[in-house]
Amino acid sequence: MKKLTLDKILQTQGFGTRKECRNLILHGAVGIGDEIVTDYGATPDTQDLTITVDGEPWLYREHLYIAINKPAGVECSRRPAVHRGVLSLLPDQFTVRDVQPVGRLDHDTTGLLLLSDDGTFIHAQSSPKRHVTKTYVATTQEPVTPELVAQLQTGVKLTDEPAPLAARARQLDTHQIEIILDQGKYHQVRRMLVAAGNHCVALRRTAIGGLTLEALGLAEGAWCYLDAAQTALLKAV
Ligand code: URA
Repeated sequence: MKKLTLDKILQTQGFGTRKECRNLILHGAVGIGDEIVTDYGATPDTQDLTITVDGEPWLYREHLYIAINKPAGVECSRRPAVHRGVLSLLPDQFTVRDVQPVGRLDHDTTGLLLLSDDGTFIHAQSSPKRHVTKTYVATTQEPVTPELVAQLQTGVKLTDEPAPLAARARQLDTHQIEIILDQGKYHQVRRMLVAAGNHCVALRRTAIGGLTLEALGLAEGAWCYLDAAQTALLKAV
């Protein structure tokens, strides 16, 4: 594997331009283990590498895989127009690394959202061919009925879709329904509920594939890194 120089390592981690990273190193701000390293051409092994920057430890990660419990009133767009952007809930360094949301949630939808700087991962997760399942809990305006559940499962026709869209659905409470989709059409849950004669008043994504918000234990607005075992859960269930 090609070795990266220390300045390049810092740059890939979002600590600034190559020049800025060299300056950090030359000024003694960067350490490996207990030692300050001032040679920006040093090529430490990146496997399990922890560097310190201004005394703060930083684990080298080639790519970032992040889960956030998105609050309401936050846009997934990288250039938010009306509400604050989801990237503002993450460290600035992640924006420098070009971390992007994997798919979108409406600004008023809460719950599990993935972000990454790995283009291959983003593409694979978003590909309709992979049918990665997304689980939502919708609070409805009208009571949930067995007919509503049946209708969603059989399929409802949306005006701009060629064929009726079906979901797996089950009633959770008088006004709460769990809906599992394996596609991600625009406003799909809200539009399916309207087409089935009800209305969504609140929407939360609780799982992507087998990765659940509950298992991650994230408070609203909180985020975490995902490890390999957790990213392996992100598939159709
Ligand atoms: N379906 C919706 O209607 N909105 C979302 O944010 C996600 C799925």
